[in-house]
Parts: sequence; structure tokens; C-alpha cells
Amino acid sequence: MLTPVLTIDGPTASGKGTLSRQLAKTLNFHYLDSGALYRVLALHLDRQGLNPMSAISDRDLEQFARELPVVFDDDRILLQGEDVSGLIRQERMGSLASEFAAKPAIRHGLLQRQWAFRRAPGLIADGRDMGTVVFPDAPLKVFLVADVEERARRRTKQLIEKGISVNFADLLADLRARDARDQSRAVAPLVPASDARILDGSFLSINESVQQVLHWWSASSRLA
Ligand code: DC
Repeated sequence: MLTPVLTIDGPTASGKGTLSRQLAKTLNFHYLDSGALYRVLALHLDRQGLNPMSAISDRDLEQFARELPVVFDDDRILLQGEDVSGLIRQERMGSLASEFAAKPAIRHGLLQRQWAFRRAPGLIADGRDMGTVVFPDAPLKVFLVADVEERARRRTKQLIEKGISVNFADLLADLRARDARDQSRAVAPLVPASDARILDGSFLSINESVQQVLHWWSASSRLA
């Protein structure tokens, strides 16, 4: 039997990360932060002097993705041995990741790496296309939605807590642009899988969201 996967997809700053980590802890499952993979790849390409407009063949782009020298070590993310966990959280890396992520060669190159996270006893897979493309056989797919202004407020608070200065209006505009790009791209756009459960987390606490997903998970496990 295949190792079970619970997918959590949704837009930027919807609280997916916190919800997914909490679920992984509660169920004692592995955790895939696919957004971090796209962010590290964007940083790596940026450091090679490449940008989303660069003239580079699909073959080479795919190879960069396949061979990305990244190691996930608990909360630390190492790129060629350097801890880049803080660096990849910058808004610039999020936007760059979103632009590179629109390229099919990049998405294709990262598939195998994402599948490698599927190990017993189970996986919580967090991203944009976890339920639609990467793990279409997942027994439970959750699509998290949250009001864009509420998301911008949360993200502003998070960044200020980290000592990073932000302008709310710029951040809101950036979130909207990123949503539009992630939703409208031709490959693996941000859309719920046809069999996804929609969870509106705008006004739920993390604990309430966790309880709702655990409830769905135990119901889907009973059916399996
Ligand atoms: O979840 P995040 O904000 O860390 O993701 C950064 C960008 O990476 C996001 O704007 C789009 C891209 N991404 C993607 O295209 N597919 C995924 N499964 C995860 C992230």
C-alpha cells in the first residue's frame, strides 16, 4: 500500500505552513514545504546570474531543478551547505520563485524531489499543486482559502516580528500580483482539485483549522 499523503494547497500567506507543520507534528508525519523548494531554486538560479527572462534552454533549467544542491535538515534548509532558511523567506525570493515556477521545465525537474518526501508513516504536502499534480492519489486534499487583506495583515505582523520592515500597501499589492500569477499560469495553476475540501481559514484559529482537518482525515481513513 502506498504511504498516505494529506495535501494542503492554497495561496501565499494563507496559513498553510503553520497548519501543515502542526498537522505533521500531531500525526507524526513527514512534512514537505514545496514552496521552500521553489524558493531555494530561485535563490540558486539568482546566484548563477539567471532571471526568469534569461535565455536558457528548458533542458538546462530542468537540470538545475533536478540537481538543486539542497538539504532539508529539520528547520534548517541548506543550499550547498549554507543555511539559507532566512534568506529564502524574503519577499523578493517569493516573487522570483513564483515567476520561475510558471516554467514547465522547472516544475518537471522538481517532481521527483517532491515524491522523495513520501515516506512512512505518512506525509503532509504543502503547496499549490500538491493535490492536483504532485500527489493526485492523496486520500485527503485540503484547499485553504483566506481573505487577501487578512493574509496581508498576518504577513505584515510576521515580518515585523522578524525585524523586517514592511509597507502594508506594497505587501498587499504583491500578494495580489502573486495570486494572479499563480492562478493564471498555464501549468499546474493554483486551483482546488475537483475532490478537494475547501477550508476558509480567514477567521479560524490555527487550532480550529487543525481540528477540522484531523476530523476529515479520520473520516477519510475510515473509508480507506
Ligand atoms: O508557498 P510559498 O509562498 O513559499 O511559495 C513561493 C512560490 O513558489 C509561490 O508564489 C509559487 C511557487 N510554488 C508553486 O508554484 N508550486 C508549489 N507547489 C509551491 C510553490
